[in-house]
Amino acid sequence: SLKIAVIGGGSSYTPELIEGIINVQDILNVSEIWLVDIPEGQEKLSVIENLSKRMVEKAKCPVKIIATLDRRDAIKGAKFIVTQIRVGQLKMRRNDEYISIKNGVIGQETTGSGGFMKALRTIPVMLDICRDIKELAPDAWLLNFTNPAGIITEAVLKHSDVKVVGLCNNPINFYKKFARTYNVDMKDVSINFTGINHLIWITDLYVKGRSKIEDILKGKSDSYEAKNIPSFGWESEFLQSLRAIPCGYHKYYYQTNQVLKEQLKQYRGNETRADQVQKVEKELFEIYKNPNLNEKPEALEQRGGAYYSEAAINIIKSIHLDTKEIHTLNVRNNGAISCLPNDVSIEVNCVVESHQITPLQVKETAPQIRGLMQVVKAYEELTVEAAVTGNRGTALQALTLHPLIPSFDRAKKIFDEMLEVNEQYLPLF
Ligand code: G6P
Ligand code: MN
Ligand code: MN
Repeated sequence: SLKIAVIGGGSSYTPELIEGIINVQDILNVSEIWLVDIPEGQEKLSVIENLSKRMVEKAKCPVKIIATLDRRDAIKGAKFIVTQIRVGQLKMRRNDEYISIKNGVIGQETTGSGGFMKALRTIPVMLDICRDIKELAPDAWLLNFTNPAGIITEAVLKHSDVKVVGLCNNPINFYKKFARTYNVDMKDVSINFTGINHLIWITDLYVKGRSKIEDILKGKSDSYEAKNIPSFGWESEFLQSLRAIPCGYHKYYYQTNQVLKEQLKQYRGNETRADQVQKVEKELFEIYKNPNLNEKPEALEQRGGAYYSEAAINIIKSIHLDTKEIHTLNVRNNGAISCLPNDVSIEVNCVVESHQITPLQVKETAPQIRGLMQVVKAYEELTVEAAVTGNRGTALQALTLHPLIPSFDRAKKIFDEMLEVNEQYLPLF
């Protein structure tokens, strides 16, 4: 029997995952999917539970769907535990964005001060979940989608011995994008990535074994654009000197002024990404409630994480069937990126076996990539340390170091404003 537990099961993203599991049921034979949520999420959980049941029924898929508020019941004996929680829900994401923008810096779910606060709220909860896993499902794999996924995964790697891997839909979306660009199958595309979650660079791209990176650097195709990130495109002069393809989240660093201008408009109009997502989520749940709906609705594509299930299912399949395939995942560096410490999380190609996930060595990093990557990684290390110690100095050093925060003054102001609204989530501070 194969039991999968989804923590944060009431998320509007869950139908993605259910669809993914249905699609591979003939090879995976999942017996139970447990959806867990917190009492505040009970209403959403029950809508998701009912939709999931209709989906598996329509697909004639024999998997049992069980919804519960008891996390320990859900974890017990699971082989895979998927975490997709949002501590403080969208309301706190909104605060993260507004406090940042109000103080003149980028306000974003995972990048900069927004991601920092989300990490502080989330790390203690994740480590709690890990203690449950250690006790109730010690051999389980934890598949973490919870953002900021790289930082959260690093916290688990450093402060728990649960088997963990961090996932993001960015890499798989690149494979899809280039398969479309070159009109080939996804399996004909190989990509060399270097970097950390939401800060990955493509340093080479092969289609059927032939390098195509020069085409792209010369402007054959824009980098993948997600629904949640404003797009200004990349200048070819920039790409050709960078010698790599950035990801969507690089805009916050390479085009800070343009994004800030855009965000300021959104802030004044009360429609930052958090506001938009709140609206989309309301719509989605109205759609999900329809008793005639028995598949994943198209409307879910308005979320940035659309298609994340493919990444989840690929890794579940690969681990479960011990396929030794290559997937792009967040794992412990172990020297794969030689200019970063061994014990940090990185997002690179890995070989997936059922007992271990091993990152492939990355070619030496060019200075224009190395510089930004090292600074942001150091910020992430400090963030993890701040979250587990509750040390104010460490938190302020993290924020001050971040390239999107211009000064210690500003870091202090942002941090104190955030502490005020996050009080209940940050007992250590
Ligand atoms: C992308 C990222 C996810 C993130 C999502 C945000 O898919 O990879 O990590 O959660 O966008 O989308 P949203 O619709 O919540 O803004
Ligand atoms: Mn992501
Ligand atoms: Mn700074």
